[in-house]
Amino acid sequence: MECAELASPYKEHLFKALQDIISNDEMLRSMGSIRILEIGVKTGENIQFYPEGTHLIGVDWNVKLGEYLIKGNRSWQFSHVIIERLITGDGSSLKEVLTGSVDVVVTTRSLCSVKSVHSTLQEIRRVLAPGGKYIFVEHIPEKEGTFIRWLQLALTRTGIWPSLFGDCRLDVNCVADIENAGFKKVSWTFLALEGYISYSLHLILSRQHVCGIATR
Ligand SMILES: C[S@@+](CC[C@H](N)C(=O)[O-])C[C@H]1O[C@@H](n2cnc3c(N)ncnc32)[C@H](O)[C@@H]1O
Repeated sequence: MECAELASPYKEHLFKALQDIISNDEMLRSMGSIRILEIGVKTGENIQFYPEGTHLIGVDWNVKLGEYLIKGNRSWQFSHVIIERLITGDGSSLKEVLTGSVDVVVTTRSLCSVKSVHSTLQEIRRVLAPGGKYIFVEHIPEKEGTFIRWLQLALTRTGIWPSLFGDCRLDVNCVADIENAGFKKVSWTFLALEGYISYSLHLILSRQHVCGIATR
């Protein structure tokens, strides 16, 4: 069990919004499909929530994931979507993706690792079609003055945590950044993951989350 699995019920609820989205792309619309771009797609944990026929653009820093999603032993679990493109790189530079060409952008527990949260949000807004949605579930630091918060800052700023966990920073609070990124509307809520996972320190240090939907 990992944090991603503890977040599953919240994601399931949030991703229900995908059912109501109508593509801005004429061809996809005629097929009843949508285009989703996911930053930090990892091993495709979110793909189960994507509607049948979704055209997916996956972005991840990890070069091995493309092959895993297409040829790995779990690739059959992704057969309800069309993997249109896999981009190996940083989420804050989506140069290969046309402006206004995506219906939905998803990030879950990934904004903590990108090179610049500000640039990533600008890129998300750029690639989204007018009326497109940005769906996010991101971990945020504990309240100020708590020991866990102190530990999050210490482990991040000494570089220990990012070097162990793929550049993940425990001191990133993206709430204000998302609110100020120029979206027409942003709705969000806080949630704290509860349960048991194999790496309990991981849960203790990334328990608090913000999740929501922003509209371009
Ligand atoms: C904690 S995992 C989250 C995976 C998945 N979104 C989930 O919720 O289960 C973070 C993912 O972001 C990727 N990543 C790390 N740095 C990145 C960057 N600069 N740009 C894009 N993806 C990055 C990692 O390779 C990893 O797959």
